[in-house]
Amino acid sequence: MAQQALWSGRFAEGMAESTLEFTSSLDVDSALGFFDVMGSLAHVRMLKARGIIPPEDADAIIGGLKTIAAEMEAGEFELDFSEEDIHTNVEFRLTSLIGPAGGKLHTGRSRNDQVATDFRMYLRDAVLETVGAIDRLIDTLVKVAQDHGMTVMPGFTHMQHAQPVTVAQHYLAHAFKLARDAERFVDAYGRMNYCPLGAAALAGTTYPIDRQMTAEALAFAGPTENSMDSVSDRDFVSELAFCASQTAIHLSSMAEELVYWSSQEFGFVEMDDKYTTGSSIMPQKKNPDIAELVRGRTGTVIGALVNMLVMQKGLPLTYNRDLQEDKRPLMESLETLTQCLSIMSPVISTMTFNTERMRAAVEKGFINATDLADYLVVKGVPFREAHGIVGAAVRYCIDKDKRLEDLTVQEFRTFSELVDDDVYDYIDIDRCVERRNSIGGTSPVSTDAQIMSVIQGYMAREDFVRQETSLIEGAWDALLE
Ligand code: ARG
Repeated sequence: MAQQALWSGRFAEGMAESTLEFTSSLDVDSALGFFDVMGSLAHVRMLKARGIIPPEDADAIIGGLKTIAAEMEAGEFELDFSEEDIHTNVEFRLTSLIGPAGGKLHTGRSRNDQVATDFRMYLRDAVLETVGAIDRLIDTLVKVAQDHGMTVMPGFTHMQHAQPVTVAQHYLAHAFKLARDAERFVDAYGRMNYCPLGAAALAGTTYPIDRQMTAEALAFAGPTENSMDSVSDRDFVSELAFCASQTAIHLSSMAEELVYWSSQEFGFVEMDDKYTTGSSIMPQKKNPDIAELVRGRTGTVIGALVNMLVMQKGLPLTYNRDLQEDKRPLMESLETLTQCLSIMSPVISTMTFNTERMRAAVEKGFINATDLADYLVVKGVPFREAHGIVGAAVRYCIDKDKRLEDLTVQEFRTFSELVDDDVYDYIDIDRCVERRNSIGGTSPVSTDAQIMSVIQGYMAREDFVRQETSLIEGAWDALLE
């Protein structure tokens, strides 16, 4: 039962099996394996360059680490669960490969700065992947907008018919939200992309290390500036958990909308068979389960944010073992989010818009009432007064079971003398849409401009993702050379 831990010198007895089981993080941090090896390669190359360890030992370590990287790549790296985490696993494997020289790798560093570095490297990849997934969904939404620049549907406030809008305007609203989500991830990436390695346990080290060199070798923007901050900071974790939560919230709104848009009552969209499920008892059912699960999994993502915030609350400086709990929730959150983003694209790109149903819905609910008021304003009536006149006309229409456009000029004139024949063009639904060409409005002129802006945004992010990816991959190639 006794374990021979790396630090066994201090102890008369090994730790109990249950201690190891309770404290182990290997099941989660094994996902950091590749980054751990890269971090170690950067570290040992620096130790060698600075003459901190003999070159022959450094070369042996580099050789051993490359072997481990190859084993991991081939899926042949065996995890030893009697070692509590991935860092000790790698170090043990190294020593078993090259002998006692492996013990020199841990000179001038600690697992505290090591794990903070590893996790940031892992998260850089995860963020780049998430940004890509968001942008692919945005691309899908843009295509919908391009196809439906003049597909009119009711715009809602308080879930009541408000004013006519287009499907393009509606989906661009979602696209802009997601674009900000992607930007938030990019911003968080910039704050996170500094290298804690060399902060050592908490206070830095007396060895003449070169932190600039290790930071560069690992494709970070630079070293972190305070050793105590470096090993205790997890605000990059909470920040990403928030970025994920906000994105999940946006997705869940879209999902909720698909649920009721595909209901019999709305019937605005019909989902493709491939992306729906049936009922085990009711043969007629076609259920929007994907949308419901996207909505439901928001809980996993927001849960991770709450978890991270509470886990960090009141922690004293610097490293405390509580911090080990940062990985599973955020990894799970980002993975869940990416899955949701990825499935929403085909759900939306394959569904059909029932444009006739949308048009029929627009005809109801006096959705052009604001336009009638605007018409009177153009004729010189103060807006507040026009609002009252139209309200009375709407009440009249409800009694007579008519739409505003069904009223004769004679009938209109019982509410305002100023109404003429031109009123019909003014309150025509299509014209209502086309005339809303203020910046950001629902007219096709405006939505075309919005589409351009959204596309520019994701092209810039695509460049960013491409550049960072090639920087990172270049760093790995150089380290493995
Ligand atoms: N498994 C640990 C973690 O994820 C690594 C750091 C352990 N450091 C320590 N002083 N016990 O946080």
